Amino acid sequence: MTAGGEPAGPAVGDILADFTFASLKAMVIDATGMAFYADKSEDLARIFQLRMGLVGAADCAAYLELLKAPKSEDCEMDALVAELTIGETYFFRHKEQFDALRDVILPDVIERNRPFRRLRIWSAGCATGPEPYSIAIMLEREFGHRIADWHVTVLGTDINQKFLARAREGRYDSWAFRTMPDDIRAACFTPVGGQWQINPGFKRFVKFQYHNLIKSRFPSIIDNIAGFDVIICRNVIIYFSPETIESLIPCFHETLTDGGWLIMGHAEPNQHLFRRFKTVNTPGAVLYQRSDRHYQASAPPLAPTPPPPPSPSPSLVLPRLTALDVAREPPRRPETAAGRPSPKAATPRPAPSPSLPVPPPSPPTGGGEGVSRIRELADCGQWEAAAAACDTLLNATPLDAWAHFYRAMIHEQVGEAELCERSLRRAIYLDRKLVLPHYHLGLFLLRRDDAAAAAKAFRNVQALLRDRPDDARVADTDKITTGQMREAVEMHLKLIGEP
Ligand SMILES: C[S@@+](CC[C@H](N)C(=O)[O-])C[C@H]1O[C@@H](n2cnc3c(N)ncnc32)[C@H](O)[C@@H]1O
Repeated sequence: MTAGGEPAGPAVGDILADFTFASLKAMVIDATGMAFYADKSEDLARIFQLRMGLVGAADCAAYLELLKAPKSEDCEMDALVAELTIGETYFFRHKEQFDALRDVILPDVIERNRPFRRLRIWSAGCATGPEPYSIAIMLEREFGHRIADWHVTVLGTDINQKFLARAREGRYDSWAFRTMPDDIRAACFTPVGGQWQINPGFKRFVKFQYHNLIKSRFPSIIDNIAGFDVIICRNVIIYFSPETIESLIPCFHETLTDGGWLIMGHAEPNQHLFRRFKTVNTPGAVLYQRSDRHYQASAPPLAPTPPPPPSPSPSLVLPRLTALDVAREPPRRPETAAGRPSPKAATPRPAPSPSLPVPPPSPPTGGGEGVSRIRELADCGQWEAAAAACDTLLNATPLDAWAHFYRAMIHEQVGEAELCERSLRRAIYLDRKLVLPHYHLGLFLLRRDDAAAAAKAFRNVQALLRDRPDDARVADTDKITTGQMREAVEMHLKLIGEP
């Protein structure tokens, strides 16, 4: 046992001298992108020691095997990631960037999106949530009157499931408000047992989902990572290697709508790296704007602060539970960075209990090139064009389950919930063996707080995957593996509290 009462793993010196330590380290850096650990073997060995002690792994080879094993019970990789990642964050971190968001970015995208009445913002590497919640607070307080009936999404993603659970909870210590004026805290949070709970009205736009920037290809409409008006990714890539960073920037570019904005960490500006963007300087902040295709960027609207905000009228909407780990190509190689780790622990996984009604005979599915084109348009947020292409395809082949599925994804993105559900159910009706429509129906029902129906949809996914090997792809049109899909579904069932 350690002084803290945890089971002792092998000594740090033994771990460092272990023949397999280098492979273990390489595997972990490859899976997380955290090249920061490349020259921090001792720190890493200490984390391995903690985890190895807890799971009873005698040496690095045994621990490596455990990390590589199909994820049927507790997910050791998630537990390890919880130890490796650094979640330093607080509300309205780096004020100048939030000023730029309020004075330049949000007025621009709100004006541009006025005809469609929707707004999508992605906080990539959101840790425990202060970043997306700060944006939601700003939207409500400063722009609430202009976007009252809009479909607004502020999506927070992270690789650390524990951080995401805390983000969904939305409860923080005073330290998280170190730069936030007390009156704003009092207006947006309720004191609860020495902490502060975000008020429901500020949660209504915000949802959280698991996403690994290194392993999950983006843009991807299937992952809900597509067509953002604003992406904020601060203090995340500093842990990655230069090669990894270089390979991520085009992905961010493609994941923005035309004219969309990228905000990186205060210390991360690099003209060369962001060369495909237009650079916009505001007092104390550097912003990047996508302006390469149809959208012709006008001079940045360095507008004065908008009129005083109307007081927010909170409506109670429960936090949304969505997540899909769609790990794909791992194109990146690690090296070094800078920072410091923080320790945490693991969570149990429930055993699946599938129950799938016998599916009717499947009409032909596919769509081939037509569907690829739709997906291409949707991935870069061209919702109108994607919807039109989908409708054309559906007119020609009304029984194409994939076309209905993508129509559902597009309905979802533009806030047409009923139509989304109808299209998902139609896709399932036409081909009950397709996994993704069941999975997305589960997510949809979760968002509607219908946990029982969502659990049924997720169990249908489990039943469909039951006899498939973990490394088999789920669908021709995507690279999601069966193992990854199983894992995502198990996580949802666990969050719902289903046995
Ligand atoms: C220092 S926090 C930054 C939080 C917030 N963006 C801010 O600036 O206040 C870095 C976050 O990046 C997340 N992270 C690290 N590697 C990641 C990866 N490969 N994919 C997604 N998130 C990752 C960590 O879990 C952590 O929550």
